[in-house]
Amino acid sequence: MAKRTLVTSALPYANGPIHIGHMVEYTQTDIYVRFLRSSGEDVIYLCADDTHGTPIELNAAKQGVKPEEFVARFHEEHQADFRDFDISFDAYGSTNSPENRHYAELIYGRLKQAGDIERRDIEQTYCEKDKRFLPDRFVLGTCPNCKSPGQYGDSCEVCGKTYDPTELLEPRCSLCGTPPVRKASTHLFFKLSNHADFLKGLLGKPEFINTGVAAQLQQWFEKGLSDWDISRDGPYFGFPIPGETDKYFYVWLDAPIGYIAATELWAKKTGKARDALAYWSADSDAHIIHVIGKDIVYFHALFWPAVLKVAGFKIPDRLIVHGHLTVNGEKMSKRRGTLVPARAYLEKLDPTYLRYFYAANLGPSPEDIDLSLKDFRLRVNGELVNNIGNLANRSLSMLASTFERRLAPGGEGAGRKLVEEALARVPEVRAAYERLEFRNVIKAVTDIASAANAFMQTQAPWARVKTDPEAARADLSDVAEVAYLVSALLQPVVPRLSEKLFAQLNAPPLTFQALGAARYPLLDRSRPIGTPAPLIARMEEAQVNSIVVSPPQVEEKKPEKAAPAAAAPKPAEKAASVPAPEAGEVEYADFARVVLKVGKVLSAERVPKADKLLRLSVDVGEGSPRTIAAGIAEAYAPEQVVGRNVVVVANLKPRAIRGIESRGMLLAAGPGGKELSLVDPGPLPPGSEVK
Ligand code: MSP
Ligand code: ZN
Repeated sequence: MAKRTLVTSALPYANGPIHIGHMVEYTQTDIYVRFLRSSGEDVIYLCADDTHGTPIELNAAKQGVKPEEFVARFHEEHQADFRDFDISFDAYGSTNSPENRHYAELIYGRLKQAGDIERRDIEQTYCEKDKRFLPDRFVLGTCPNCKSPGQYGDSCEVCGKTYDPTELLEPRCSLCGTPPVRKASTHLFFKLSNHADFLKGLLGKPEFINTGVAAQLQQWFEKGLSDWDISRDGPYFGFPIPGETDKYFYVWLDAPIGYIAATELWAKKTGKARDALAYWSADSDAHIIHVIGKDIVYFHALFWPAVLKVAGFKIPDRLIVHGHLTVNGEKMSKRRGTLVPARAYLEKLDPTYLRYFYAANLGPSPEDIDLSLKDFRLRVNGELVNNIGNLANRSLSMLASTFERRLAPGGEGAGRKLVEEALARVPEVRAAYERLEFRNVIKAVTDIASAANAFMQTQAPWARVKTDPEAARADLSDVAEVAYLVSALLQPVVPRLSEKLFAQLNAPPLTFQALGAARYPLLDRSRPIGTPAPLIARMEEAQVNSIVVSPPQVEEKKPEKAAPAAAAPKPAEKAASVPAPEAGEVEYADFARVVLKVGKVLSAERVPKADKLLRLSVDVGEGSPRTIAAGIAEAYAPEQVVGRNVVVVANLKPRAIRGIESRGMLLAAGPGGKELSLVDPGPLPPGSEVK
């Protein structure tokens, strides 16, 4: 019997729309699942909405609706978004479901039975006006470390220090502004500390989790694993804890149990299994894979396996961890309009473009992915529209217009060689899918399409048809064959486009399973092709840019205008390229367009024949450092700036200065020349935003 595989994506909060950042994860998982299906594997793909917790409860209250009603709206909306992005879930549940309650209670009962639940009295922040305990995020105050005002109860966004809400200075309830009090309450803790050895062993397995990610979790073991508070006092939107009064399961206890509940939902819906235990019982032979973002590793790599082990369920086999999406090199933000809702994207662009672009940038490790709108457009137009789309369209159109849609029988010439060379790359593509190296899939497939386009150019069937029509038809048929293969190889990534192409070829979908034994010719040459049509349109610049809707009233102005006093690399050049700034005020929105970041100077050297310039290598928290030419050489010797933290204008257009491509600009104060002082942001990590 074939191996059974269960794959999940993390359960999105039913607290807001799905956005294009989420879509990285659902696209990655969907591609993988479609590949497994195409390979003939028995795989199910499950997901659900994550519905519980304080933020959802409060947002519902703000809108004057019951939390059940609030999350029900997102249940419909999320599913529509996923469907329109071609995400192929086999079931989509909700953590606020009877199945989930059943498993949450069952699992909790077993944890308790095992002696792994402990009662402890703790003191917590409480608002007497709102009559509720306040989670850390609902307490605001002044950071005890750097004294920045308006910080959350758990950590300071300015200096990065984490602390207890009790340490916050001048704390206030974020709901009503009243200073909160301390109040004792009994909480239930899961004894995570009892399972440190088990977890260490699990995290040591490279097949369970990426070794780099596991290494980052080591720090938690070094500190000693803390027990986990799994209860919350009412009012709380969640499941009541059996045997307790006014206590609820903490959202992160029942959220992953939602994976099990979704399995149960699937089993009931399809009748293909009796219940979720067909996959989740401790002795199950199924393969369980969770795809998650790097921000929720802690929950999935520590709590979840320990809970499952104690409760007698199956431990997942693998965690696939991806990085985060940035847009134009920046963290997505509402302020910049880059937190694009899935629906807003769909109203403007074809989902196939984004699926393709994500695939082209995804690998197996948790690196961030950048959606630079320019790269997005250039890559999709260059590779998917021009290279792949045109290949199919050129050959099929001519077969239709000149040869009455009839293919030639398979031959022995250069065309056959072309197809066989393409077929020889199938194992490489398969392996890349298996390893989640989707960018290598795209690389191989674009190579294949380029070779076929080059073949078209050399064979020039449009000319040859006049002298040797049969040869022209044979060449076009072989190119159609490559198009068939390309659409099979890309089907997990761009299923819509592949289906169209299969239909235009009038050929059955070609699967990875069938490709195992595939030989030339792949197409049934006796069958006429279907009706060719353009596969996918080019993306226009304006159309792509329109997905980022900047906040209102932002005029198109050069960001330099709003930049504070700066050490211009070369004053003359700057003056020439930018009109003199008008005196007076700018709108906040103008200022907000300038992205300022903390950078660390890694190296510095003088630039020959340019007395004022230093060539710097600056870490701006992006993985690889930037080269920046800075006009500070009269004020600073190279060794004086190495190791310093500086403020970098991070979204300045790159420009060539004395043959150096300078990517960014440093802020400095003073009249210039020798009297220049670099702005010092203090000891913050590179990449921190300056606002
Ligand atoms: N509800 C929890 C998950 C519970 S799983 C038992 C949650 N929800 S979420 O809506 O905030 O995020 C859902 C998934 O989307 C997470 O894996 C998260 O990492 C991912 N992403 C959310 N924003 C993202 C980006 N900007 N980029 C890539 N993935 C991101 O966490
Ligand atoms: Zn309050």
